[in-house]
Amino acid sequence: MATTKVKKIAVLTGGGDCPGLNAVIRAVSKTAMHDYGIEVWGIEDGYNGLITRRARKFDNLAVSGILTVGGSILGCSNKDNPFAQPMKVNGEIQYKNVSVECVQYMRDMEWDAMICIGGDGTMNISNKFMGMGVNIVGVPKTIDNDLAATDYTFGFNTAVATATEAIDKLHSTAMSHHRVMIVEMMGRYAGWLALEAGIAGGGDVILLPEIPFDIQYVADYCLDRSHKGKRFSIVVVSEGAKPKGGEMVVARTVPESPDPIRLGGIGHKIAHELEQITGLSCRATVLGHLQRGGSPTAYDRILSTRFGHAAARLVAEGRFGRMVSLRGHDVVDVPIEDAIAKLKLVPPDHPLIAAGRSIGTCFGDRAC
Ligand code: F6P
Repeated sequence: MATTKVKKIAVLTGGGDCPGLNAVIRAVSKTAMHDYGIEVWGIEDGYNGLITRRARKFDNLAVSGILTVGGSILGCSNKDNPFAQPMKVNGEIQYKNVSVECVQYMRDMEWDAMICIGGDGTMNISNKFMGMGVNIVGVPKTIDNDLAATDYTFGFNTAVATATEAIDKLHSTAMSHHRVMIVEMMGRYAGWLALEAGIAGGGDVILLPEIPFDIQYVADYCLDRSHKGKRFSIVVVSEGAKPKGGEMVVARTVPESPDPIRLGGIGHKIAHELEQITGLSCRATVLGHLQRGGSPTAYDRILSTRFGHAAARLVAEGRFGRMVSLRGHDVVDVPIEDAIAKLKLVPPDHPLIAAGRSIGTCFGDRAC
């Protein structure tokens, strides 16, 4: 067994759930316990468990049999922020900084370090805790793949696979009914999910937040296909897509959340407008949280295992303030600050967009 000064750590799954979380928990815990003899604790429900002092000690059995299981055995919460924790006072929400109490809890538990698995919100909070002297290593998670400083986050591949399967299924019903099927995907302000699933599923139109669209170009393209005998079209739209000169569609605001804007509704809006312009029969499908659920793909199981293993090693070696990251085929580590500087958006000159345009995919920004 390798030697380390680290005796006891805690692991936390921040933000929304994502396929592969359990695979990371398993790899972190097994590596830490087997290779270094480190005691591992799991914090319940993300930062909520830190605030409400809820954690449980893991043994080998607790993290066995979870590789293929979706979600997080620890539970998730995307409403909690120790630096601005929403609390109801006289029926009104007020925000309280409870970070000092959280650090005291970590000290009481004698954790030498925390491994925080999450997206930009989780890394932001981790960074603030680091400023208070807490030892943290980050693991990048999100189906949106919008986290900077890593080529891929785990969970994204599974979400792409789920969305691609949905597009495949929509194809057969679209063909039978000669319809335009609009399929709305998650992804927040980044179009990675719609782009990759759209290309993998052979979407005829792909609309991304990074490329504002003109509905007339989309309508013309669907009509043109129809006139040429392709009597159906599949329009893949990212929840953050917006018309030229227009705004994203907000489904609702969640004031108590660190990320209060919930996008959604663009799919139905486009279906309505396309039907009005073209006279074609249009239907919208919103994939929603289906994209976050289910068993991780083989790719995500492997990436999660590599990330978890690397994170445990960083902790054991005392290399704190780092986030594991995928660069090409290699797992490396980067400063956590690099991950929170800005969101990783799809560059409009991305090779997959160029390939899409060459094979006749319409991105809605010009006549196709
Ligand atoms: O960030 C992951 C994500 O699934 C986004 O794609 C989506 O916009 C958002 O979370 C949905 O959040 P909630 O689970 O709060 O509805």
